[in-house]
Amino acid sequence: HAPLRVALVGLGTVGGGVIRLLQTNAALIARRAGCPIQIVAISARDRNKDRGVDLSPYEWVDDMTTLATRDDIDVVVELIGGADGPALTLARQCLSAGKPFVTANKAMLAHHGLDLAALAEKAGVALKYEAAVAGGIPVIKGMREGAAANEISRVYGILNGTCNYILTTMEKAKESGNPRGFDEVLKEAQELGYAEADPSFDIDGVDAAHKLTILASLAFGTELDFDAVAITGIRHVIAADIAEAAALGYRIRLVGMAENGPDGLFQRVHPMLVPLDHPLAHVDGSLNAVVAEGNFVGRLFFQGRGAGDGPTASAVVADLIDVARDEYGDALAMPVAALAQQKPADAGKR
Ligand code: HSE
Repeated sequence: HAPLRVALVGLGTVGGGVIRLLQTNAALIARRAGCPIQIVAISARDRNKDRGVDLSPYEWVDDMTTLATRDDIDVVVELIGGADGPALTLARQCLSAGKPFVTANKAMLAHHGLDLAALAEKAGVALKYEAAVAGGIPVIKGMREGAAANEISRVYGILNGTCNYILTTMEKAKESGNPRGFDEVLKEAQELGYAEADPSFDIDGVDAAHKLTILASLAFGTELDFDAVAITGIRHVIAADIAEAAALGYRIRLVGMAENGPDGLFQRVHPMLVPLDHPLAHVDGSLNAVVAEGNFVGRLFFQGRGAGDGPTASAVVADLIDVARDEYGDALAMPVAALAQQKPADAGKR
């Protein structure tokens, strides 16, 4: 089939990851999508910044608002971030114009998701956001598809890689007898590409609350309500707290939890004491995890890398593959003819 032509807006950590992933795995992505996925146009705030990726194959677009109505672009990927501002303007323009839109922007969705979904529905166009929650974990697909038939009573988890990296690195350092300070480990998380442009969103729990808002709405079919999330971050957690928790048989994790009970929807993000026999106590480093409890499926546990260029790009490109499949059909999600040429190796011969 003809290539799916992509405009990529925002060229930070994740944008660079998307470019590298589409280059490295081009052939297998084309097989699975039913067509090649090609970036044709790119845009970002600063054209001259060195991003360590070759941008010369792509058309540079100064005015990103022109992308919404261009006939030679099939889908726009937004990786600028920010709840309002250019990301929101672009999303509204694209969805109103019937242009499929892929975003990793949890802040924008937590605040304006309902409006954007209404625009998408009106135009009959795809709005996809797997990368917005828990990085590389396919938790949006898991909730929307895997758990679709269930009544969900609770959804909770570790939703911020930066905080989890800080807490677990301090925990390990303390255990090994060389305690490390909060600021130093935060700096490391920033260098590893986990933190938001403004890391206070991470450590104050706001980023986790954005993601929880989206998850809760998916799980319970309720309106997105970010303002109703009670939020405490990890700014005041010190090494002594971690040691004290350990002495009592707990670990400290920043947990986002949403429950839909008879008294309504409760959403909160707090540092919580997690007992050692709970799987969340063993989620380390930049990993995230999401637990959902459904009335027929039981407890679902999703775990994977929740931040960083590779995992987040993986989710963005999975959405692009979805857009291509929507276009070209998806009977088996794999082209049978291509598979027939790729016989598994005969294990007996090795
Ligand atoms: N800053 C976020 C985190 C990135 O640390 O989890 C992924 O959304």
